[in-house]
Amino acid sequence: MAEDHIIIEQSRALHGTVELAGAKNAVLVIMASLILTDGKSVLTNVPANDDVWQMIKLLRDLGAVITFDPENHRLEVDTRLITKFSVRAEVMKKMRASVLVMGPLLARFGRSDIALPGGCVIGSRPIDYHINGFKRMGVEIDIDGEYLTAHATELKANKIVLEYPSVGATENLMMAAALTRGTTRIVNAALEPEVIDLMNILKKMGAHIVIEAPATVVIEGVELLRPVEHAVIFDRLEAGSFLLAAAMTGGSIEVPQAPAFAMDMFLLKLEEMGHQVTVGIDGIGVSLRATRSPKAVSFKTAPYPGFPTDLQAPMLAAQCVASGTSTIYETVYENRLLHVMELQKMGAQIKIEHNKATIMGVDKLYGASVIATDIRASCALVLAGLVANGITRMSGINHLARGYEAMPQKLQKLGANIWYETQLPQDIKLRMPISQLA
Ligand code: UD1
Repeated sequence: MAEDHIIIEQSRALHGTVELAGAKNAVLVIMASLILTDGKSVLTNVPANDDVWQMIKLLRDLGAVITFDPENHRLEVDTRLITKFSVRAEVMKKMRASVLVMGPLLARFGRSDIALPGGCVIGSRPIDYHINGFKRMGVEIDIDGEYLTAHATELKANKIVLEYPSVGATENLMMAAALTRGTTRIVNAALEPEVIDLMNILKKMGAHIVIEAPATVVIEGVELLRPVEHAVIFDRLEAGSFLLAAAMTGGSIEVPQAPAFAMDMFLLKLEEMGHQVTVGIDGIGVSLRATRSPKAVSFKTAPYPGFPTDLQAPMLAAQCVASGTSTIYETVYENRLLHVMELQKMGAQIKIEHNKATIMGVDKLYGASVIATDIRASCALVLAGLVANGITRMSGINHLARGYEAMPQKLQKLGANIWYETQLPQDIKLRMPISQLA
């Protein structure tokens, strides 16, 4: 079958201002949370990426009436007609975040039938923390092959200790607990900015939620949650990706909406590399002026406020052309270094041992045909392509579209040589500037 590609040519230094989209990792769970209400909610700052379209499909399947205006990033979701509690396998498989409907469906209907979720190929990504947590809340769960049936006559508040601060498990359990009579405590909860955004919308709906130090989320269940209007937070991961694009090409960039207050560890590493980073008043907005001789830095990924695993691949790409040796430990996922093999095709000097990557900076990368295997890997390869001699041809571009709204278009505006290549069935390649795409 003919496959589309993105072509990246070595680019001059990128300069300019970039407008961010809303956070993908916040909007998907926030959309799922609307199932908890019975009425019409309005979300603004909704990114028009493919995962959002997928979540729209899933919610429509359940019966929600949805209008999305992608240009104005406005989404209206009316949940009054939701009557179903089962999600088709083909919808479920497209995106791991689909599992986040489980908590809201259990809270609203006492029942949820789903297939085991899909998503990126970055490890086994089980959902045992979700399942064990729901069991603590009195949910009976049956797994038959790929299907998971969950039901509870009445959800019960309880203390749930997470073995690991899983983002999805914290979100799923918090949503179920919001409508569960009594006090639920999630100990060792994830406190990523996207989890906090979910917490904020739930509170607007009328939920009672507080955080106890160091990381316990306490939810006092209420009878009813009301529809709301909410602006999704800006995407710190998209912000990080564009800061790196300017840093790697030796340029300068302003990202006025960047939630710098939630990007400390990442910004620290950019500064350690020698880049000049300025944060706006009140922790909003970041500008970067790149150094001409970036130094290699080392880090390990960790739950928030540690270095985000979702910026590991793009930051690793930056280390490939920095001066010196960098050591990167991926501690969140067991298989999230697949981009390394592709970067090696481009001349990167990287050694892998288990979850550790050692990168010896080189003067030049070289364009190659590479395959994106997940959302963040696709971003890393685009960034590497910007500084590689010659032409990089990336397949698997669906991943880029899943996670980012119009990243190639935004890069092009900053001065990047990036193109879209579509292959017609007659084996004719059609090459067009990103800006000419509808
Ligand atoms: C979310 C983000 C993803 C990000 C990740 C970590 C969304 C839509 N996705 O994914 O981009 O990379 O947080 O910041 O918000 N685990 C288990 N059992 C479970 C749940 C998780 O073993 O039941 C493991 C996972 O395999 C992984 C680790 O825990 O190794 C962290 O996963 P988790 O925080 O749950 O990530 P997601 O919510 O799936």
